[in-house]
Amino acid sequence: MSSITIPPLSEDLIRVLIDADTIERKVSELSRKISDTYQDGKELVVVGVLKGAFVFTADLCRQLHIPHTVDFIALSSYGSKTDSTGNVRLIMDVREDLADKHVLIVEDILDSGYTLDYLKRNFSTRQPASLKTAALLSKPERLAVDITLDFLGFEIPDVWVVGYGLDYAEKYRTLPYIAEMRPVE
Ligand code: PRP
Repeated sequence: MSSITIPPLSEDLIRVLIDADTIERKVSELSRKISDTYQDGKELVVVGVLKGAFVFTADLCRQLHIPHTVDFIALSSYGSKTDSTGNVRLIMDVREDLADKHVLIVEDILDSGYTLDYLKRNFSTRQPASLKTAALLSKPERLAVDITLDFLGFEIPDVWVVGYGLDYAEKYRTLPYIAEMRPVE
């Protein structure tokens, strides 16, 4: 049972889509699956995609039962996020050399899929021992590329969501739940 205080919904937010306890249970389940996958002493590097995945990455990694290191990468997309052009740009690279390491990319959300598609292609050129992907959320209706996640938390409808790392104009990232945001006029 979580001991965190749950802040009330603000007027920008319509409803809680996934509450904190449900997220906590799912993160534990994903951590167990990931730990099982990388047992046998594999050298694992978990790469969180900033900024959105900072909360999920921290919670997920703190429950892993296997040795691992944590790194982060930051990307930006040209154009509007509601109509992604697929032009993804690297703005902060990982510090670790990924060659011969088992790499797990951790995303908060798979929307169009352009960000993860770019990262998978970019990381593949660095000769990792293996490359897998995890996302807490996925919006199947929005997916514009052919991509399959290795570890997924929840499929959600095509609504704007905030909280647990996800923002609207940099607000709401630290809400402990995922909420649906009222469409912006
Ligand atoms: C969001 C999210 C993912 C990406 C998913 O990041 O955190 O990284 O978009 O979208 P896609 O599947 O359409 O590429 P954003 O660019 O909003 O930056 P942020 O994480 O810093 O908020």
